[in-house]
Amino acid sequence: MDASHISSELTEVLYTNEQVQARLAEIAGEIDAEYADKDVLLVGVLNGAVMVMADLSRHLTSHVNMDWMAISSYGSGTQSSGVVRILKDLNTDIEGRHVLVVEDIIDTGLTLAYLMQNLKSRRPASLEIMTMFRKPEALRSQVDVKYVGFDLPNEFVVGYGLDYAGRYRNLTDVGTLAPHVYS
Ligand code: PRP
Repeated sequence: MDASHISSELTEVLYTNEQVQARLAEIAGEIDAEYADKDVLLVGVLNGAVMVMADLSRHLTSHVNMDWMAISSYGSGTQSSGVVRILKDLNTDIEGRHVLVVEDIIDTGLTLAYLMQNLKSRRPASLEIMTMFRKPEALRSQVDVKYVGFDLPNEFVVGYGLDYAGRYRNLTDVGTLAPHVYS
C-alpha cells in the first residue's frame, strides 16, 4: 500500500519509499564499512522494525546474522513508561558479539534506554543502535544512537512500520495522519 491508496487519511507525505530506500542504502554503506572485518548480529525490535530490518539487511553487501526481541512497555496509552517487559528474548547468546539494534522509531528513548542496559549486561563485544526515525524528544534522552534515517517532526506519523491502532505499518511511504482518523 502506498500513499496514493489512502490519500484522504494523510495530510502530508514526509518521505516516499524511494527516499526511505535511498537513505537505507547510505546507512548500509556506513555499516558495511564499520563492520568490514567483524561479524555483526542485527537485533530487530518487534513489531515496527520488521520493515527496516528487511530492507536494511538487503542493502548490506556483507553477511549478517539476525535475531529478534519483542518487548512491551508497562503503562497505558501511547506514552512509554520506561519500564519494559521482555515478551520474546533473543535466541542468540550475544556475549562477545558485535550487536547492532535495529529500531523503527525512537520517541522518548525510554524503551531503548532499558533495552541497551539489559543487552550491555550480556557483555557483547560492541553494542550500537540504528533507527529509521527519531522524534525530537529522543535528542534529550541518554540513548546514544549511531545511525539515524530521518528526524521526524512532533506529529502523528505513520507508515514504514509506524502504526496507528495497529494499522498503516504496511504503508510503504511515510506520512502524517489526518486528524479525522484519530479524533
Ligand atoms: C515503538 C518503537 C520503540 C518504542 C519507542 O514501539 O518500536 O520500540 O516505541 O518509544 P520510546 O522511545 O518512547 O520508548 P511500540 O511500543 O509502539 O511497539 P511496536 O514496535 O510494536 O509498534
